[in-house]
Amino acid sequence: MTICYFTASGNCLYVARRIGGTLLSIPQLMRQEKIEIEDDAVGIVCPVYAVELPFMIVDFMKRADIKTDYFFFILTCGYGYEVSLGHAEVIARERGWDLKYGNGVFMVDNYLPFFDMAEEISKLPGKNVEGQLDVICADIQARKERRVNLTTELKEQMAFYHKNHAPKVINKNMALDYTVNDACIRCGICAKVCPANNITVTEDGVRFSDHCEVCYACLHNCPQHAIHLPKEAGTKQFRNEHITLADIIKSNE
Ligand SMILES: Cc1cc2nc3c(=O)[nH]c(=O)nc-3n(C[C@H](O)[C@H](O)[C@H](O)COP(=O)(O)O)c2cc1C
Repeated sequence: MTICYFTASGNCLYVARRIGGTLLSIPQLMRQEKIEIEDDAVGIVCPVYAVELPFMIVDFMKRADIKTDYFFFILTCGYGYEVSLGHAEVIARERGWDLKYGNGVFMVDNYLPFFDMAEEISKLPGKNVEGQLDVICADIQARKERRVNLTTELKEQMAFYHKNHAPKVINKNMALDYTVNDACIRCGICAKVCPANNITVTEDGVRFSDHCEVCYACLHNCPQHAIHLPKEAGTKQFRNEHITLADIIKSNE
């Protein structure tokens, strides 16, 4: 089994590890000229962004050559994944891939403009992440099917959020509004955890470019907590408790 994953604050890496198999980082695969993956089971694990998929996942699905008898797609999210799974199903169909199992895991929502990370972490026991993962791991182990039903209602929701919501929440220029305060020691970790190579650190400071994934890896993983959005709902950063900074660097560098 092979799992291709994308992570910023560790939830997806943790889920991928729990499911098991060979783990491949999507940001690193995207730097290859050709992406060819063949295995008895192949899955994608990625976060929900703005009721959609991260830009890089859409690009990855359009570029990758995946051959498998059992293709699965797991989204991690704070509060909902069904509409995003609809987008995955649409792209899978375009590629001729048979998406046999789609599911989602409710975890900490790392969307800093809306959510206070301390409050999000306090809600974790109620989300029962381990219980959700036990079910998904057993399902995948048994090669169970859980297909995405592209109903008219789901398609309407996909169109609505795509038009009215996503452009306000994710666009590639967003990092140009991030600020870096005096706590920054130019350690360069923000550049190493950025999956999109969108950050340059020199003696003069941190410079963001125009191909941001809006994943917040730089904000959540800065050891000095020096990078900020114009507006944040709380004062705490988040990284999944099972995942280290070194894991995120290894995934995204
Ligand atoms: C820009 C952005 C938008 C997000 N939008 C949604 C959303 O629409 N619905 C949702 O449930 N979670 C949303 N989230 C939360 C993430 O999907 C969730 O925290 C995910 O588990 C993070 O995965 P990671 O830790 O592997 O980076 C969003 C997060 C970010 C950064």
